[in-house]
Amino acid sequence: MRAFHVRRLRLAAGLVLLTYVVLHFLNHSLGLISLAAMEAGRWWFLALWRSWPGTVALYGAIIVHGILALWLLYQRRSLRMPMWEALQYTFGLLIPALLVVHVTGTRIAWWLVGADDPYTRIVLGLWVLSPQFGGRQLLAITVVWLHACIGLHYWLRFRRWYPRAQPWLFTVALLLPVLALLGFVSAGREVAALARTPGWVPSLLASTHAPEKAEAARLLVIREGFLTAYLGALIVVMLARGVRRLYQRRRSLRVAYTAGPIVTAPIGFTILEVSRLGRVPHASVCGGRGRCSTCRVRIVRGLDALPPPTEAERRVLARVGAAPDVRLACQTHPSHDVTVTPLVPPSIDPGSALGPDARQGRERELAVLFADLRGFTRMAEDKLPYDVVFFLNRYFAAVGTAITGAGGVTNQFTGDGVMALFGIDDGPAVGSRQALAAAQAMVEGMTRLNAELAGELKAPLRIGIGIHAGPGVVGWMGWGESFYLTAVGDTVHVAARLEQATKDFSAELVLSDNVARLAGVDLSAFPAHRLEVRNRTEPVAVRIIARVAELRPLLAPATSA
Ligand code: FES
Repeated sequence: MRAFHVRRLRLAAGLVLLTYVVLHFLNHSLGLISLAAMEAGRWWFLALWRSWPGTVALYGAIIVHGILALWLLYQRRSLRMPMWEALQYTFGLLIPALLVVHVTGTRIAWWLVGADDPYTRIVLGLWVLSPQFGGRQLLAITVVWLHACIGLHYWLRFRRWYPRAQPWLFTVALLLPVLALLGFVSAGREVAALARTPGWVPSLLASTHAPEKAEAARLLVIREGFLTAYLGALIVVMLARGVRRLYQRRRSLRVAYTAGPIVTAPIGFTILEVSRLGRVPHASVCGGRGRCSTCRVRIVRGLDALPPPTEAERRVLARVGAAPDVRLACQTHPSHDVTVTPLVPPSIDPGSALGPDARQGRERELAVLFADLRGFTRMAEDKLPYDVVFFLNRYFAAVGTAITGAGGVTNQFTGDGVMALFGIDDGPAVGSRQALAAAQAMVEGMTRLNAELAGELKAPLRIGIGIHAGPGVVGWMGWGESFYLTAVGDTVHVAARLEQATKDFSAELVLSDNVARLAGVDLSAFPAHRLEVRNRTEPVAVRIIARVAELRPLLAPATSA
């Protein structure tokens, strides 16, 4: 099985385990209400995870996630890795050793000796009878949570929506364990008070069939057996790595970097692993998972002798429009000497993962929106410059929020106009729906702004919007610190022309039929027009929308896609 599929399977298993942990934390946090609420929540929790499907999913995920982690550890040629990855490995390897006490004391005890494990008994053990186990349990859940959060972050960070969702996800990631901990503390206090009642503890232990001495000894044997087996598996993996290393040392190759140095490495290493071995700075934003393309290298010598790229590598290279002599360093295992040039600076960050190639521009199908404030110049004439700046900033905040909220990229705030791009990564159909949603949100934002500034304005601010979709060349443009993502081409000219046409038609929005078709919106009820555009032989078929609010019934189903 290829590393790509191993990682996929491991991720799927990890998501099952994450679901389990999140529900477990939510159950703990019910302790903030009462111990009884915690027990009631536990009933539902067990109904899911102690059912047959739940058991298979949970223990299947534990086995798959664990075995594949050991397999990936064996597969890794070098243990040099970025700090975040080293932390995730370390936390992951600690988890089984930290959790074994808890698992044998709850689920295994329930299976083997019929001991019930309600919160009351478990909290009694962790809070009152053996607080040292409580401390270890706290450490265990912290490690589990950090391991899960790091994995989730490095999995999701290339998604377009992630930067917007990140503050919310971070809040959840912080709140959930804190609430769970507070729930546990609150339950601990309640149980400690109950434990002071004479006879309460023995009666609880008897009614829940807490393991007797002999049963506890049996559970201890299981726990130690597991720990020995786990330690043994780790030693076997490390020994296997050592044996492979000895074997490979006799068969080595040289990777020459055009800017120096030349690194000798055993056959079997990827080019990225060779870089790490030789301490050659090499970008690898996704940590060698074949997702980001930042490790790509030009093969200056030895291209023909390389094994061909896998389908997954080919897809990533195609996405960045790589030349035929470019390969992903993290996916390429040379078997002969090669000379390479890394193409992305080692300090690249995820937001710039497209790399310097993006500065050359790439052709994309996308939707382009232009918007302009109507009559603002006239209105600004009798205002102080400070007032004008204030109004413009409020206006830009309103339209900028609408654009990014719909999934677009703002650029070129010029004068009182704005240009925005939609669907750069997701294509023109999604982009057209997003642009229409943005237009709707922009007009709503202007309505709110007019209400706020009613006392300051002689007449309400009005906006004109033009949207067109089609091919354009997208790339980073600018100089020095002032780089921004923009698009050029006929689609951009047409969108700008449609925005100007809103004045002629006294309309809030003029969009091309192409946008309506791509967005899947039927605008046949709105006036149609064929608009002449300079340097175009064919006029552009457009729809005139006097008031964007009239689109709302049509957009609701389309924009929710
Ligand atoms: S490091 Fe991300 S694709 Fe190679």
